[in-house]
Amino acid sequence: MSGQKTVWVTGASSGLGLHTAMELQKDGWRVIAGARSFEEGETDGMYRLKLDVTDEESIRRFCEKAAEIAPPDALVQCAGMLVLGSCEETGTEEFRRVIDTNYLGMVRVNRAVLPIMRAQGGGKIVMFSSINGLLGIPFQSAYTASKHAIEGYAECLMLELRDFGIQVMLVEPGDHRSGSDKYRPHAAAMNEASPYAEAYQSATAQIHHDETNGSDPNILGDKIARILDRKHIPFRKRIASADQHLAVYVHRFLGARINAAILRTYYIRRKKNT
Ligand SMILES: NC(=O)c1ccc[n+]([C@@H]2O[C@H](COP(=O)([O-])OP(=O)(O)OC[C@H]3O[C@@H](n4cnc5c(N)ncnc54)[C@H](OP(=O)(O)O)[C@@H]3O)[C@@H](O)[C@H]2O)c1
Repeated sequence: MSGQKTVWVTGASSGLGLHTAMELQKDGWRVIAGARSFEEGETDGMYRLKLDVTDEESIRRFCEKAAEIAPPDALVQCAGMLVLGSCEETGTEEFRRVIDTNYLGMVRVNRAVLPIMRAQGGGKIVMFSSINGLLGIPFQSAYTASKHAIEGYAECLMLELRDFGIQVMLVEPGDHRSGSDKYRPHAAAMNEASPYAEAYQSATAQIHHDETNGSDPNILGDKIARILDRKHIPFRKRIASADQHLAVYVHRFLGARINAAILRTYYIRRKKNT
């Protein structure tokens, strides 16, 4: 179809990346989707290519093959993972894996795609942050740090790219019922002997409950598809339930002590007799 726009989507085999890719395709975009687990091929106008965002050579091959199909009018970066664990017991390698995938993965893919977008005179870059990019949640420190890094990086990127006609958007989702447990391992040291065991169990049960009962991923995908159709896209788009919007607002305007009291009460419920 002539005039059809093309979007490259990372992390499109599961969760919000998959739903966003499907909604974009429904909206008429040619979608070139990347993930490690893909069998390469095309179905109904969706092209699937292998992509590991932690591996420069894999990114180079993805970009080469994708550019042969069609250069990107837009890039949507969803690839991500988290490791659940206390700050003390999450290992350095576990921190490194999360930062390498979530933050450096985006940096690497942007570095590969930016020359193409500059040469064609513009484009749109969408990066998946999270509510965790705006506030800390107990036992998600590696993930929270990676999303805070993305928030700071995106501000710099947006300022630098304006002259090239490239727009940047951060998507800050609240809990959505789509993510796979496969990408949420527990840190190896988190067992019953951990000094954090009781608080950890309480917090991870709450986190699991909130995701299982989270918002509809198709609605998020549809919102992103609608925004990408506009000439000008916003720099930040929070897509979250009313209480998560409120949590961010409260976090910004109330002091650290009140915030800690609210977040600890929500996530860390101790048994009465301890
Ligand atoms: N779900 C939520 O409630 C929620 C809330 C806030 C933010 N987010 C953000 O939304 C994005 C998607 O999360 P999700 O929970 O919806 O999905 P998910 O089910 O956790 O899926 C993660 C995706 O990332 C891909 N991925 C992981 N490591 C990769 C690597 N090294 N290279 C390439 N792809 C990689 C996976 O594909 P392969 O294994 O096939 O490579 C998979 O497609 C993430 O950035 C996450 O932080 C999600």
